[in-house]
Amino acid sequence: MNAEYQQLIANINQWDHEYHVLDKSIISDEVYDHAFQKLLAIEAEHPEWLRADSPSQRVGGKPIDDFQKIEHKVRMLSLANSFSLEETFSFFEKAANELDRPTATLDIFSEPKLDGLAISIRYENGLFVYAATRGDGQVGEDVSHNIKTIRSIPLTLASEQPPEVLEVRGEVFMPKAAFIKLNELALQNNSKTFVNPRNAAAGTIRQMNPKIAAERDLQFIPYSIGDYQGEQVFALHSDIINYLADLGFRKNPDCRAITGDFAEFTADFQRMEQLRDSLPMEIDGIVYKLDSLALQNALGFIARSPKWAVARKFPAQQVTTQLLDVDFQVGRTGALTPVARLTPVFVGGVTVSNATLHNMDEIERLGLCIGDSVEIQRAGDVIPKLVRVVQPGEQRQAIIMPEFCPVCAAPVLRISGQAAYRCTGGLSCAAQAAERINHYASRKFMNIMNLGSKLIEVLHEQGVLTTIADIYRLKADDIAQLEGQGEKSAQNVLDSIEASKKTKLATFLGALGIPEIGEESAKSLANYFKTYPALAAASEEQLMQVPDIGPVMAKNIVAFFADDKNCQIVDAIIAAGVNWPDEQSAPIQAQTLAGQTWVLTGTLQMPRAEAKAILEGLGAKVAGSVSKKTTCVLAGEDAGSKLAKAQELGVKVIDEAGFLAEFC
Ligand code: IVH
Repeated sequence: MNAEYQQLIANINQWDHEYHVLDKSIISDEVYDHAFQKLLAIEAEHPEWLRADSPSQRVGGKPIDDFQKIEHKVRMLSLANSFSLEETFSFFEKAANELDRPTATLDIFSEPKLDGLAISIRYENGLFVYAATRGDGQVGEDVSHNIKTIRSIPLTLASEQPPEVLEVRGEVFMPKAAFIKLNELALQNNSKTFVNPRNAAAGTIRQMNPKIAAERDLQFIPYSIGDYQGEQVFALHSDIINYLADLGFRKNPDCRAITGDFAEFTADFQRMEQLRDSLPMEIDGIVYKLDSLALQNALGFIARSPKWAVARKFPAQQVTTQLLDVDFQVGRTGALTPVARLTPVFVGGVTVSNATLHNMDEIERLGLCIGDSVEIQRAGDVIPKLVRVVQPGEQRQAIIMPEFCPVCAAPVLRISGQAAYRCTGGLSCAAQAAERINHYASRKFMNIMNLGSKLIEVLHEQGVLTTIADIYRLKADDIAQLEGQGEKSAQNVLDSIEASKKTKLATFLGALGIPEIGEESAKSLANYFKTYPALAAASEEQLMQVPDIGPVMAKNIVAFFADDKNCQIVDAIIAAGVNWPDEQSAPIQAQTLAGQTWVLTGTLQMPRAEAKAILEGLGAKVAGSVSKKTTCVLAGEDAGSKLAKAQELGVKVIDEAGFLAEFC
């Protein structure tokens, strides 16, 4: 390893530190780029010299295949929240009581609460080993590949005698300016924008490709340490923060030492509230920590948070803007949600131009019309909310639910008794396709074993699967050409589609995903109508004769089969060979036991499932226990407590011979 190579590493690391940690820039981009090129050239020529802490290691990495789990040696905790000065003060009053000293004598360290994601970085003998997310506090994910690209994180600690082990914990965040730039770029490229800087930071860290992370401006500020084995002994939390700065990390300039005096909390909060908008990064509150580590130890923890630190969260931010229009979005289940389109406003660090309105009842409650001046609230990661009408617009326009689905043009139906409106396009509505196909193929319904939700999503995105009928048009090539799939897996999918074709009418009906029609109601429908044509032709009145089918379900079923597109899809599926052989030719059975509840007990000669099917076929419900509501108990040999209970309650009892004579 030659001296030039060593010197280049030292220089670039020093320049990175000055620029990204100390916010000083002393050399020109040209000098920096020239040195970096030289470094890369030497490493290409002498790969055997490559040092783990070379700045080239921040950007050169390959994408990873999977996130490895990392168990935290010391648990990563979270913080209790307080939402008023009184709450913050009483938190420390409690701590002071437990420590048996006056609150005002406590030394407290005030730190901005950075709005990003928590990361723990492990160094051994001064060298970066790995970085992990918080996860559940005990086990996180290895995100070293992305964390290494952050230049305010040293790859080697700046110390002659580094500790054997040091885990540095802190927040990775994206500065506001970097976030705005990133979203502008995303808009230009027609790609997905991030909701706020925190999501942008988290999204960048939780992806596989370090080249993406290297292109984005992420920063890191430490706020504590985890596992530590070293010579240094610390008395104060602020000593740790200073020590970390000596080792090469950023130190937040807006930290302050205060005491537990109420007036000091008040002044500190006002200070930070005033600073907030001018800070380069988003903060969502202040963290107050007891500075003495001895007192921290004396207090310990409760559940997952320390008894010596608390977050004081900023209240939600509110601004006024104008409601320009309301669009209706069709969700994956067909529900239509009104979305407010607003004159863009900057609130809580992001530009907001949309807000959810939940449903039509909410619009009515707010008395909202297009053209009104409205108040928008944004709190943390919560989707912006329209809180109230500030002033009605001069030319107000009522907000009306469309009669037809904006995606597929099928009629929109209000579910009576509910706030929700639904598109009745069902099987042919593109907005609902992936969800419908998933539901259809799921284990509970058609049970198409090798056609999982991920594969469905990809095939849907590629336009191969647009309706459930397309499942039966799938070709091996459609699947084999996908990343991670091959001819064998493609054949497995086709085999499971074939194997799933023989089914039951009830299973098939449930699989269609008619709103409100689940497994049980599909069973009742199949029991009653026996054949698909009989069900598809049924009127609302006929449907309501079926046990457990109410007016909303009946309406949904009629609406479903009134839509030609749905019928065409079902016909295509049947034509492709889906069948229910046992039931296809059975006649409709009279529902002579409709409304009755039966209980089976003791040992029967016929299989229990058969007795149950006979009873259900006649419209009865079969329950597991006897009560006053039980109509009849079918008691086999050696019947025990259920029979005794039936006799005690005076419930009718029938034996197997009587049952066979009457019903079979
Ligand atoms: S201290 C044992 N200090 O807030 C205490 N956390 O709501 C551990 N956070 O998971 C946390 N700035 O991600 C601490 N100055 C700060 C912080 C901070 C942001 C985050 C951190 C934590 C979350 C808890």
